[in-house]
Amino acid sequence: MIRKIFKYLLYLIILTLVAIQFINRPKKLSEPIDSQNDIIALLGVDSKMTDILKNNCYDCHSNQPEYPWYSKIAPISWWIVGHMDHGREELNFSKWGEYSKRRKNKKLGDMLEEVMDGDMPLPSYTWIHGKLTDQEKRLLESWVNQEIAKLESEN
Ligand code: HEC
Repeated sequence: MIRKIFKYLLYLIILTLVAIQFINRPKKLSEPIDSQNDIIALLGVDSKMTDILKNNCYDCHSNQPEYPWYSKIAPISWWIVGHMDHGREELNFSKWGEYSKRRKNKKLGDMLEEVMDGDMPLPSYTWIHGKLTDQEKRLLESWVNQEIAKLESEN
C-alpha cells in the first residue's frame, strides 16, 4: 500500500515537472546590441577590467547575456531569468551611453559598494561562477575611482 502511494506520488512529481516546462517559458532577450552605447567601448575599458565585467556582471547587466543550459529548465529558469531581467532593469552596461552624468556617477559608486560588500555578483551566481578575487576587487575599485574622477572633471 505505502509503496503504491509512493509510486503514485513519484509519477505525479515527474508529470508536474514535465508539465511546467510548457508554462511561462522565460523569453530570451532579443534586444539589438548597440556597441556604441556599451560601457566597454565607450570608456575604452582595458582587457583585464573587460574580463571582470564580462565574466561576472554581463549576464545580468547587459544585452549580451549568456544563458546556461539549466536556465532553460523550469522551475529554476523562472528564478534565474527573473534575476537576469531584474538586474538589467537596474543597471544595463549596454545602455551606458544613454545614462545621464548624474546616473553614471551614481551607478559607478553603487558598483563599488555592491562588489566590496560582497552583494554583487549575487551569491546564487557566484555559487556556480565563482567569486571575484581580492585582486579583481582592487582592480575594480581603482577603475571605478578613476572613472568617477574622469566624470567629475568633465563639464
Ligand atoms: C545573477 C545576476 C546578477 C549578476 C551576475 C550581477 N548582478 Fe548586479 N544586480 C542583480 C539584480 C537582480 C539586481 C537588483 C536587485 C538587487 O539590488 O539586489 C542588481 C543590482 C545591482 C546594482 C544596484 C543598481 C541600483 O541602481 O540599485 C549594482 C550597482 C550591481 N547590481 C552591480 C553589479 C556588478 C558590478 C556585477 C558584477 C561584478 C553584478 N552586479 C553582477 C543581478 C546580478
